[in-house]
Amino acid sequence: MQKPTIVVCPDVTTLSHKAAERFIASGKSAIAARGQFAVALAGGSTPETMYADLASPEMLPQLDWSKSFIFMSDERHVLPSDPRSNYGMALRTLLCRLSPDKRHVFPVPTQHPTAAEAAAAYERELTDFFSASPGARFDLILLGLGSDGHTASLFPHSAALNEKNRLVTDSPPGTLPPPVQRITFTYPLINAAREVLVLAAGEAKAAPLRRILVDGVGREECPAAGLGPRDGTLSYFIDNAAAAMLPSAMLTKL
Ligand code: 6PG
Repeated sequence: MQKPTIVVCPDVTTLSHKAAERFIASGKSAIAARGQFAVALAGGSTPETMYADLASPEMLPQLDWSKSFIFMSDERHVLPSDPRSNYGMALRTLLCRLSPDKRHVFPVPTQHPTAAEAAAAYERELTDFFSASPGARFDLILLGLGSDGHTASLFPHSAALNEKNRLVTDSPPGTLPPPVQRITFTYPLINAAREVLVLAAGEAKAAPLRRILVDGVGREECPAAGLGPRDGTLSYFIDNAAAAMLPSAMLTKL
């Protein structure tokens, strides 16, 4: 597993724009090489500005969305209309700007009565999608980082951390809000990706980044420590506030 690249930007606005540029570059490369771009969007609040940048008149035309297949790397067990929905956030900020005939989006089917049933159904959708091309995997998985070191909905000391076979599983809520059941990608799925990109901004992310990248705290305590694409790259795009506890020698400044 390669060491992660830590890209630091002056502020969250620059971070979002650079991450959007990276998204476009990854998409173009995937489509050029394999004819399609399989990508999973992160939830939470950090990616909102990035998604709005992607939806801008300048950026939207830069990617062939008709060849892009968009999933969610985790979800709250709520309906899309619920303000806590990660898909709902992505729809409001980006996906609504894609014309319906050029929109291949796979939200987590949270209409199922339980998170476990929603996770099983989503895993079937993913398996069906990737079975069309043997050896296929995600070209890019976007993730966030919680102040407790969680990523996706892989929370500290949760059973989901030990999942070795399933691609998607359900999880009880972590200690951070919102306190709802979750559906999440597992390490086997995430670490099979060509590229994993973690977005982290703000001073609340400085401590978990230090714990993971410097102190070597393990994934039970800080689940983002379990990120490590076997045959791919891992990058953190962070702002100055989130980088405050990292040695400058570790950082790539944009
Ligand atoms: C979720 C997210 C979660 C998020 C982090 C960071 O469902 O909450 O997927 O993993 O990415 O908690 O959230 P913020 O970007 O809001 O800090």
